[in-house]
Amino acid sequence: EQDQYILGIETSCDETAVAIVKNGTELVANVVASQIESHKRFGGVVPEIASRHHVEQVTHVIEEALEKADMTMEEIEAIAVTEGPGLVGALLIGVNAAKALAFAHSKPLVGVHHIAGHIYANRLQKEFQFPLLSLVVSGGHTELIHMKDHGEFEIIGETRDDAAGEAYDKVARTLKLPYPGGPHIDRMAHEGETNIDFPRAWLESDSYDFSFSGPKSSVINTLHNAKQRGVELKDVDIAASFQQSVVEVLSTKTHKAAKEYGVNQVIVAGGVAANKGLREALEQKFEGEDMELLIPPLHLCTDNAAMIAAAGTVAYNSGHRAGWDLNGNPSLSL
Ligand code: KG4
Ligand code: ZN
Repeated sequence: EQDQYILGIETSCDETAVAIVKNGTELVANVVASQIESHKRFGGVVPEIASRHHVEQVTHVIEEALEKADMTMEEIEAIAVTEGPGLVGALLIGVNAAKALAFAHSKPLVGVHHIAGHIYANRLQKEFQFPLLSLVVSGGHTELIHMKDHGEFEIIGETRDDAAGEAYDKVARTLKLPYPGGPHIDRMAHEGETNIDFPRAWLESDSYDFSFSGPKSSVINTLHNAKQRGVELKDVDIAASFQQSVVEVLSTKTHKAAKEYGVNQVIVAGGVAANKGLREALEQKFEGEDMELLIPPLHLCTDNAAMIAAAGTVAYNSGHRAGWDLNGNPSLSL
């Protein structure tokens, strides 16, 4: 049988990314042009700036990916692109680049949900064994997703307010750390002590939902009160205590859901999957359990196009095709 090469394009936020994946599981080329430097001074992603960078970068990044793979468009079977959710102007650049490329080379086109992509990043490491549970933790999402088969996503829990990554970034901003703050808090957490008791939002005992605005506000209030009373708090202790409050809830609920649903695999996805504290806590929880824990390597946790090509391959092989009317959808549901 012939090998199947899918080219993926991702521009939903602040990374212009293009990748080529072989047979849905093997990474051939993975190029990510990050815009972080341009957004840093604003403390977050500025949508208009993101769109402009995507326009400037996308064709170069496509060429670079083909060059790295030492391939031509002739050898590509189909093009997969993130159609949502994300910043609408940013999504549109990727979708239109994908459409132009597909049209010019007469290739089929398939639209991919960004979160499906994050989940399928794990398939570049290991074949999925259903049923599985996925913990998706990124800047825009916090979800527990039960999958009985490819392409079937049952959301059994989600955040009721802030996403985990968003809470990290907001706490980081309070501590005057650069954007994105998650990795800085993570690093500092390992230098501090967990001596401040921030609240854990467990919600109802049978709920797999999350809430991170409480812990985030509590950090802000604690800092404010300490300042007023002239008490000196160490930033590293705040980072360690905040991280523990988030990681404890994420890992405990994931473990409970995995047991209840009797899954074979637990897979972690999204930018916050890069968090060392979370990785350690999950490894501890699932030690000795009859389930496999999969966490992607760091470069496949944050936004990339390899994950879009991986998810796109499965969608394409089950017959999904996008038409020339494919559009960026900022609130696409899974
Ligand atoms: O998946 P991603 O790259 O973009 C979205 O789709 O949102 O996730 C970005 C988020 C940011 O909030 C960033 O602060 C967070 O992931 N993040 C981390 C770490 N690395 C990235 N949060 C905690 N610890 C980390 N090591
Ligand atoms: Zn993402």
